[in-house]
Amino acid sequence: MVSTKAPEDAYTAAPFVPDRGGLPSLRRAAADCHGCPLHRNATQTVFGQGTVNARVMLVGEQPGDQEDRQGKPFVGPAGKLLDRALAEAGIDPADAYVTNAVKHFKFTPTEGPKRRIHKAPTLREMTACAPWLAAELALVEPELIVLLGASAGKALLGSSFRVGEVRGALLEREIHGRQEKLVATVHPSSVLRARDDADRKAAYEGLVADLKVAARALS
Ligand code: URA
Repeated sequence: MVSTKAPEDAYTAAPFVPDRGGLPSLRRAAADCHGCPLHRNATQTVFGQGTVNARVMLVGEQPGDQEDRQGKPFVGPAGKLLDRALAEAGIDPADAYVTNAVKHFKFTPTEGPKRRIHKAPTLREMTACAPWLAAELALVEPELIVLLGASAGKALLGSSFRVGEVRGALLEREIHGRQEKLVATVHPSSVLRARDDADRKAAYEGLVADLKVAARALS
C-alpha cells in the first residue's frame, strides 16, 4: 500500500501561509494549518495577539493547556505571571504583540487530574511552524523582539541559542533579511517551576530585570 504520510522532513506550514493580506487573513489561514502533525491532537491553532502597530513582539514557546482551550496565547498561569512582570518592567500591554514559536499545543495525555502534560516541541516542529512567525514579524515589524525562553530563541536565532548566555542583553541580529533588536529572558513557566519561594522570587526578579532592559530599549 502507498503511504499518504508526509515524510517528517516535509513538515512545513509554508503552503498554508497566504502571500498577501494582513494579520486577520494570516490568523484565518493559520486556523486550518496542517503543516505538521501537532494540529491533530490540539483543540485549535493559537495564533498571535495584538495589533499590527505593536512596538514589541513577545515570543513564547507554544500554547499551554489554557491557551489551547481559549485560543489565545499566554492566558494561563504563565501568562498571568508575564502580565505582572511586564507591568512591573513598564511595558504597556497595548504596545505588545504576543505570540509563540509553535502555534499548536503539544502534550502527553496522562491519567489523573492533570490530563494533558506539556511536551516541548522538537526543532523539526519549530521549523515547520516558522513560516507563521516569519509572516507575523514581516507584518508587525516590531522595534524589539523579546524571546521568552530557549525555544523562542532557537526558533529565531538557531539551535545553538542558549538563553543563559545572552539573557538581559540588547542583541542585534539579522532575521529574515531584517536587522532586529532582541532581548532574551527566561520563560515565565520556569519561574512557576522554581523549587521554593526563595528561588521563585529570585527567578521572577531576574525576569523583571531582563524585561526592564527591553522597556529601556523601547523608550
Ligand atoms: N507558554 C508559552 O510559551 N506560550 C503560551 O502561550 C503559554 C504558555
